[in-house]
Amino acid sequence: MVYKTLTKALLIASMSIGLSSGVCAADAPKLKMGASDTMLAFTCVGCHGNNGASNGPAIPTIAGLSNEYFIEVMKGYAAGTVPATIMDRIAKGYTEDEIKQLASFFVSKTFVKAKQEFDPKLVKAGGKLHDKYCEKCHAEGGQSAEDDAGVLAGQWTPYVMNMFDDFNSGRREAPKKMAKQMKNMMAKEGEAGLHALSSYYASQQ
Ligand code: HEC
Ligand code: HEC
Repeated sequence: MVYKTLTKALLIASMSIGLSSGVCAADAPKLKMGASDTMLAFTCVGCHGNNGASNGPAIPTIAGLSNEYFIEVMKGYAAGTVPATIMDRIAKGYTEDEIKQLASFFVSKTFVKAKQEFDPKLVKAGGKLHDKYCEKCHAEGGQSAEDDAGVLAGQWTPYVMNMFDDFNSGRREAPKKMAKQMKNMMAKEGEAGLHALSSYYASQQ
């Protein structure tokens, strides 16, 4: 009798193991596919704003960037080659495929230009500096995403100023030709040049 009960218990136990592994097996393909793009992006919008349009000021808008730039900068954060206050820790949590998914979600959204203050007196000079030193790669006054160089026009000024600082201090490595242009610009205009440039970018709303 005891033996019989024990066998029954074992049978139930093995059945339930069978059952649960059956459930796992059925779920496995779904788990392999992982979270949807929207589910993954959910983690980001708390900081980067709905659909990647940031409420600023030190957190950049990430909607409407180019696919290539988005993936490159995320990988750079994860590898530690792009300096960060927070994105290094965040980017490390995603596989390459998930980064591609995140890119496809945000790249398809519209870059909403920030409504922010700027010094109108500096805009014209900033535009001239941009045309001379930056337009070649940051096309359409810094609006284009197609150039795979991020979007500067309408990006939040405190973030843009942080990036200027990262590049000029050498914390973030600029592409060689950009580093050269930045150096030329700084030698001629100094810090005032950076304020003029950022005013020009902020004026595009
Ligand atoms: C806690 C706030 C926070 C969260 C959450 C967050 N970010 Fe960021 N993100 C930032 C900040 C701040 C920066 C500027 C770099 C830095 O200081 O880390 C940034 C920068 C970026 C950039 C670079 C933009 C550019 O123009 O170069 C991308 C791309 C990005 N984040 C994507 C994401 C994605 C994708 C997620 C979700 C997986 C995410 N972020 C989650 C705060 C956040
Ligand atoms: C030779 C091409 C080139 C020139 C010239 C150039 N840039 Fe860039 N810039 C890039 C590329 C490419 C990136 C993307 C980052 C990378 O590849 O490391 C970038 C990134 C940036 C970023 C970071 C964008 C972000 O979302 O984080 C800023 C800010 C920037 N450039 C400002 C400037 C300014 C200001 C000038 C002119 C003084 C300039 N660049 C000139 C190619 C260039």
